[in-house]
Amino acid sequence: MSKSTNITWQNTQVSKQQRQTLAGHRSPVLWFTGLSGSGKSTIANAVAQRLYEEQVNSYVLDGDNMRFGLNSNLGFSAADRQENIRRVGEVSKLFVDAGVITLTAFISPYQADRDQVRDLLAAGEFVEIFVDTPLAVCEERDVKQLYAKARRGDIKGFTGIDAPYEAPTQPEITIDTSKQPLSESVEQIMRYLTNHGYLDLSA
Ligand code: ADX
Repeated sequence: MSKSTNITWQNTQVSKQQRQTLAGHRSPVLWFTGLSGSGKSTIANAVAQRLYEEQVNSYVLDGDNMRFGLNSNLGFSAADRQENIRRVGEVSKLFVDAGVITLTAFISPYQADRDQVRDLLAAGEFVEIFVDTPLAVCEERDVKQLYAKARRGDIKGFTGIDAPYEAPTQPEITIDTSKQPLSESVEQIMRYLTNHGYLDLSA
């Protein structure tokens, strides 16, 4: 529910299509979702590096980083996670409008919250990428030592331990980092972008 009244939408002079034409590529959101430690940020950053090498404009929005700034007033209750994803969806939409391929790395555990972002964008602009690394593998890695804390009960409501993770029902791409190296995951995503015409406006 919007609290703002007496506001009128102002169209921008330069359109999304013009910005995409200038950039020479489309600007979808590559929405990475998966458990903590599944590899979302690692893959997103590796894809951003590849896109940079191909002279494609991209930007990574990362869950941990966004929680230092824009989302620093949010915790990990279901309501706060919903608001976290809503804001990231809105920010992503601005990046899409600016003609930038936007890679987001958030656990985003609820299907309804992810669907809300999909609905915010035009058809084909939301590419849901399920980083389907099994919980046991994420816990074994435990890069940030958060699973150990959650198991001890020092963190309450940790995704996969005592808070839910709803796997995507129809993701555009599924990646299991326990079955393939990082380079193969990057190639899988690059192939998808190429085959679906995201990197070539004449396609
Ligand atoms: S989301 O669920 O709202 O999408 P987000 O991706 O922004 O989560 O943040 C997840 C990161 O916050 C994790 O990678 C981890 O470093 C940290 N974190 C801290 N507390 C929790 C928790 N209770 N559940 C999951 N992640 C947590």
